Amino acid sequence: GQGTALGRALAGKRVLVTSGPTHEPIDPVRYIANRSSGKQGHAIAAAAAAAGAEVTLISGPVGIPDPAGVTTIHVESARDMLDATEQALPADIAIFAAAVADWRVAGAADQKMKKGEHGTPSLALVENPDILATIAAREIDRPQLVVGFAAETQNVIAYARAKLAKKGCDLIVANDVGGTGVMGGDANTVHLVTADAVESWPTLPKAEVAARLVEHLAALLADKG
Ligand code: CTP
Ligand code: CA
Repeated sequence: GQGTALGRALAGKRVLVTSGPTHEPIDPVRYIANRSSGKQGHAIAAAAAAAGAEVTLISGPVGIPDPAGVTTIHVESARDMLDATEQALPADIAIFAAAVADWRVAGAADQKMKKGEHGTPSLALVENPDILATIAAREIDRPQLVVGFAAETQNVIAYARAKLAKKGCDLIVANDVGGTGVMGGDANTVHLVTADAVESWPTLPKAEVAARLVEHLAALLADKG
């Protein structure tokens, strides 16, 4: 990154960000997806670059441009996102903002499915790998700061604490998606949850959440020495 707005707080640091949804194929022309826009993850990648970091963004299929000054790798499925993330290591900070599909279709067809040949198909689903938990559990090349997101509609702090412990990450950015317009919208209301503290921020534009998060992570990394 080139910027000076954040005082180059992450100069010389490597930052990895996942962003956007994943697409899980049903056949070569159909897929399962979700409503993630990628706006928050892409904004974090841009903010980290502005703070002087060398940033790799692993992006699922989104309708927004690649951020300037960031190496962007485009993937479709959760398994491809995991492979790309592992290949992008090592990193000092890894931020998992992607809305990874929890399930993929078991035995996706390698040719387009045709009507009327086998009646109406049913989809059998199988759980995808947890990219965040996989990276957080690495014995070699575990980033010093592993940051997860948790989109919740209720019990936001309690669910975020449970995810922090289960996934072995250092911080969870919990966002309250109970209100209207967060997914796909331009504002976000977040709580920074660690094992022993919660810091709640007011509703802010996603770019502002990104800038503050980068500043917060730079300070945490500096504290780690
Ligand atoms: N995550 C991931 N890989 C997955 C699922 C989730 O890396 N297969 C990451 C997300 O990027 C996010 C965090 O894990 O940083 C939490 O995702 P979330 O969907 O809130 O949690 P889940 O463990 O999938 O639980 P659930 O959807 O049932 O609430
Ligand atoms: Ca999930």
